[in-house]
Amino acid sequence: MSMKPLTVLVIVASTRPGRLGPAIADWFVRATQPEAGVTVDVADLAEIGLPLFDEPEHPSSGVYVHEHTREWSRRVAAADAFVVVTPEYNYGMPAALKNAFDFLYHEWAWKPVGFVSYGNTSAGTRSVQMAKQVVTTLKMMPIGATVALRLADSTHEGRVLESAERDETARGVLRELSRVARVMRPLRLSDDPDDPGPVAVQPEDLPELLVLQRCCWVQEAVANDTLDLAPLRETLEELHASTSSWRLWCVRRHGRLIAAVRARRNGSEWLIGRLMVAPDQAGNGIGSRLLSFVEAQAPAEATHHALFTGRRSTRNIDFYTRAGYVLADAPDDSTVRLTKQR
Ligand SMILES: Cc1cc2nc3c(=O)[nH]c(=O)nc-3n(C[C@H](O)[C@H](O)[C@H](O)COP(=O)(O)O)c2cc1C
Repeated sequence: MSMKPLTVLVIVASTRPGRLGPAIADWFVRATQPEAGVTVDVADLAEIGLPLFDEPEHPSSGVYVHEHTREWSRRVAAADAFVVVTPEYNYGMPAALKNAFDFLYHEWAWKPVGFVSYGNTSAGTRSVQMAKQVVTTLKMMPIGATVALRLADSTHEGRVLESAERDETARGVLRELSRVARVMRPLRLSDDPDDPGPVAVQPEDLPELLVLQRCCWVQEAVANDTLDLAPLRETLEELHASTSSWRLWCVRRHGRLIAAVRARRNGSEWLIGRLMVAPDQAGNGIGSRLLSFVEAQAPAEATHHALFTGRRSTRNIDFYTRAGYVLADAPDDSTVRLTKQR
């Protein structure tokens, strides 16, 4: 079982002015902290302010055109488990919560979710029942432990009343959530061809990414008859440093890092670099999917995509040409620059 620290995202589902949601979430976080090996992040849907779902592609594609979706994707993808703090509105979950679920797909999958519900007579439990059929569709796993607060019994003037018993119930939710999250982690490294979408590279991915990069650039070294290639020379420290100016994504399968790419805005262009697929995985569409994915991450200000490859890297040039890139110029004797209008 993995003992890596867990990140639990506490989602505050209500958004109206004067809501109780943040006070309930604050109580849950206070009652359950500190819990060894668990970091809590709070995502308040009112602060996040997602619009009504406005992405043109199905979220399972991982192709997001809006920065608000990408930001939400990063928050949810970074979590190992969720606690949804939700009221009951008209026997159901708040629309803002359903909307926040609908925005994403892979980011939710294979992670447990616990509920802290609140309401009048039903203590918000009908909201949870409704949410459960949605979260299981997104491959989340609702846990059994739960907190259900009847507002009249458990709150006063917008605050949760002191109760050691209630605090212990909250801790029980976090404990069960952590246990399930640890055993579910390996499921996220599944071999489902539709599943291993690109995810943001984390610091702990960098050593493996560097090994993959060196493997992939051996072919480039042979094709261009030189070892003087930056991706071969790059050190782990330099790779770490690059994460402050580049956004990096990778694809894992069975736990193995098999593909990666980076990109950053450079004036009006979206500069894409270091697109790599493990040599034994080449030819099965991973590179094309990763290229489409990274193109879709371009900010609105970018008018075109740009990338560089070796002048003699004919396989790469063919690949990018098929993807709609055209040769723009040759900055030096050994390199060509290709661009694609958005
Ligand atoms: C639109 C609306 C619908 C509600 N429907 C229910 C309901 O079906 N069942 C219930 O127990 N409470 C219901 N309530 C009462 C809420 O549980 C209570 O107002 C709670 O504080 C709402 O959460 P919030 O303050 O975080 O928005 C409703 C409240 C609102 C505003």
